[in-house]
Amino acid sequence: MTRTWFITGANRGLGRAFTTAALAQGDRVVATARDPKTMDDLQHERLTVLPLDVRDRATVIDTVNAAFDKVGTIDVLVNNAGYGLVGAVEELTEAEIRDQMDTNFYGALWVSQAAVPHLRAQGSGHIVQISTVGAVGSLPLFSLYNASKWALEGFSASLADELRPFGIHVTLAQMGGFDTDWAKSSMKFGTELPAYTAQREALFGMPDYWGSLVQADSTPAEPAGADSTAADSAAESTEPGPEVAAAAILELVAMSNPPVRKVVGPGAHQMVTMALDARRLDYQTDPEFTWPA
Ligand SMILES: NC(=O)c1ccc[n+]([C@@H]2O[C@H](COP(=O)([O-])OP(=O)(O)OC[C@H]3O[C@@H](n4cnc5c(N)ncnc54)[C@H](OP(=O)(O)O)[C@@H]3O)[C@@H](O)[C@H]2O)c1
Repeated sequence: MTRTWFITGANRGLGRAFTTAALAQGDRVVATARDPKTMDDLQHERLTVLPLDVRDRATVIDTVNAAFDKVGTIDVLVNNAGYGLVGAVEELTEAEIRDQMDTNFYGALWVSQAAVPHLRAQGSGHIVQISTVGAVGSLPLFSLYNASKWALEGFSASLADELRPFGIHVTLAQMGGFDTDWAKSSMKFGTELPAYTAQREALFGMPDYWGSLVQADSTPAEPAGADSTAADSAAESTEPGPEVAAAAILELVAMSNPPVRKVVGPGAHQMVTMALDARRLDYQTDPEFTWPA
């Protein structure tokens, strides 16, 4: 069975890997990117490229409508566009916080909202939200990235239940670390306060945010983050390439009854287990809280 995909942030990283993997298996793709010229190198008769900044709700609605007009049916919609914002809560400006939520949360919400009427009309479809193991747990200095992806997860888990009766699936793909620009040129940082230097050193092995980014770009190691472990920051990058994530997403969308949550990537399951254990231990400090045997 061939499928038609709609993918946001398709020009690089995971989004590009999803696009090329889908094309390689014979599928059709509507790939969106803020700057469509960044996809000029990827010419294909089954590929349509549309400009889209997911923060702009009106444009999102027009673009999703245009995609359905062009291709008729969309089987897989991947909300992939996103980036990481790093900084302690008090180090972040309102503009930085709003942009993180506008991209990672509202962007996926607007695309989902625009697509749902079409998916209901066709009586099928699979919305794949590119989330993170950082939406199960949390890390200091990643609060707003965590918040944006937890918000993505909250509405999407509910949406999964809303849309099941219409034959539409929603999956939260909780990704572990992958070697993309996420922890490199794409990452944004708050303005450092000296009070958090020790925490920066503990997480990144560097006293300043930009130092960790430079190190990540040149080694190429990935600074620890909501999507990797602290130990990774000093070591050579052990993150798999985005094609590994793409293979997992192809398997996911081929399932007849896909799960609401799918953990993707080496080490990611362990991180989810640790986050769930930590949460359970926290509850267990409350004597009124008992787990069923
Ligand atoms: N790599 C990881 O370890 C990892 C782990 C867990 C989750 N994730 C998630 O995976 C998704 C993809 O990230 P990646 O690893 O592929 O990082 P990446 O290489 O930095 O790619 C990010 C993509 O998102 C796009 N994007 C950012 N803001 C956008 C906006 N406002 N409108 C449209 N597109 C926008 C970028 O477009 P431009 O080129 O225009 O900037 C780029 O195509 C993100 O949601 C990220 O949070 C990544």
